[in-house]
Amino acid sequence: MDGNLEALFRPKSIAVIGASEKPGKIGYAVMKNLVEYGYDGKIYPINIKGVEIEINGRKFKSYRSILDVPDEIDMAVIVVPAKFVPQVVEEAGKKGVKVLPIISSGFGELGEEGKKVERQIVEIAHKYGMRILGPNIFGVVYTPAKMNATFGPTDVMPGSLALISQSGALGIALMGWTILEKVGLSAVVSVGNKSDIDDADLLEFFKTDDNTKAILIYMEGVKDGRRFMEVAKEVSKEKPIIIIKAGRSERGAKAAASHTGSLAGADSIYTAAFKQSGVLRALTIGEAFDWARTLSNLPEPEGENLVILTNGGGIGVMATDAAEEEGLHLYDDLDELRVFANHMPPFGSYKNPVDLTGMAGAESYEGAVRDALANPNMHSIAVLYCQTAVLDPRDLAKIVIREYNESGRKKPLVVAIVGGIEAKEAIDMLNEEGIPAYPEPERAIKALAALYRWSRWKARQRRE
Ligand code: COA
Repeated sequence: MDGNLEALFRPKSIAVIGASEKPGKIGYAVMKNLVEYGYDGKIYPINIKGVEIEINGRKFKSYRSILDVPDEIDMAVIVVPAKFVPQVVEEAGKKGVKVLPIISSGFGELGEEGKKVERQIVEIAHKYGMRILGPNIFGVVYTPAKMNATFGPTDVMPGSLALISQSGALGIALMGWTILEKVGLSAVVSVGNKSDIDDADLLEFFKTDDNTKAILIYMEGVKDGRRFMEVAKEVSKEKPIIIIKAGRSERGAKAAASHTGSLAGADSIYTAAFKQSGVLRALTIGEAFDWARTLSNLPEPEGENLVILTNGGGIGVMATDAAEEEGLHLYDDLDELRVFANHMPPFGSYKNPVDLTGMAGAESYEGAVRDALANPNMHSIAVLYCQTAVLDPRDLAKIVIREYNESGRKKPLVVAIVGGIEAKEAIDMLNEEGIPAYPEPERAIKALAALYRWSRWKARQRRE
């Protein structure tokens, strides 16, 4: 059924069953996002009344049933009330649709009766060889195909991170958050009740998807834990997986059970299983995205030697503390580090952390970053900057972007810039270019440490 998953991300044509002409309705929002995000396949609205739907001046004739569409349809997004879903699933099957994201709520999350209907629609789908995503979801995005089939935000920033969310509202909020925080996404998938397509299926797809470099999952529980862990382990050997597994506490687990019907299970079992599978477990949304920025953008380090470049002693010390706590190794070969003396006044320090001093301007950073990138014994770099009047942080961002691109992006480099509004703009500039940048030194170091943890796990797997 792999072709069906392919159709979920690269459909040649999409039907929206329950498309509406009325702004404010979900069936309108999905149409609008598809059009505005630039999906260039064919879009067929299905509306029982046969209304014309106008999106930004573009007029779409709708069909009363999917069976009336004079074309093949790969994917049908379902946005009709639950009671009509079995019938439209049957019709989609007859039409030869491959995959059905079902946005409609009102199934398994309601209890036994709902679960029965949910099983019934999966049976109908499978009878026709179709797969179901959901129900009870906000949709699916795949940025390489310019496809936004959700009722969430429109302007998802393209990038290399696939985001999978079991929670709908949180998933939509996270989509908005990634836009604000400049986290580039390859895909967003809302899995909802996971009646058919589940996290393991999606991991298998993303494992071989060239547009995805890392995967972030928000989950409350898995139905088939054993299969999930087996697949996660195989995928982790190729690409890093970050998981926020909610329901850690006893009460949290109970809340998860009533939210998505997940059996959260004993948390310690998850912790152990994730560790064995190479999965990186993040405890907060902030931590997960901090790591994801680095893991979805940077190459693996070829060795343990980290070099910290800074203009401020204070942030250098804080970054060093974080590095020590995270088990990162600060490079300390003074013969090699002496090269940085060329880029600082006599009162600077080329001992790692390399203190270029508060006088450090464009030339200092340019020279130091270039030398660190060129030295094969320096395996990873953290560039830190405290905003001063000597160097506009946006100019620093330009320098780092240029030097990193010219070096061929062969080793991991993270940035932390502490300061005001210009610092925030510089951070955004770097993140838009896929260079992970943070407003605090510890966050940059911890993200780098997550990359090291995954990379070391992989190396251990190869040895075993
Ligand atoms: N075939 C084609 N079109 C149909 C249809 C059918 N069998 N049955 C209804 N329609 C049309 C309706 O006429 C309507 O179009 P209109 O606005 O032009 O009249 C449109 O489909 C939607 O149906 P409607 O009855 O108006 O439902 P709704 O828009 O109020 O709600 C859902 C539909 C799916 C959004 C709603 O039932 C639901 O489940 N909401 C929760 C969604 C959610 O939160 N999901 C999880 C998020 S994480």
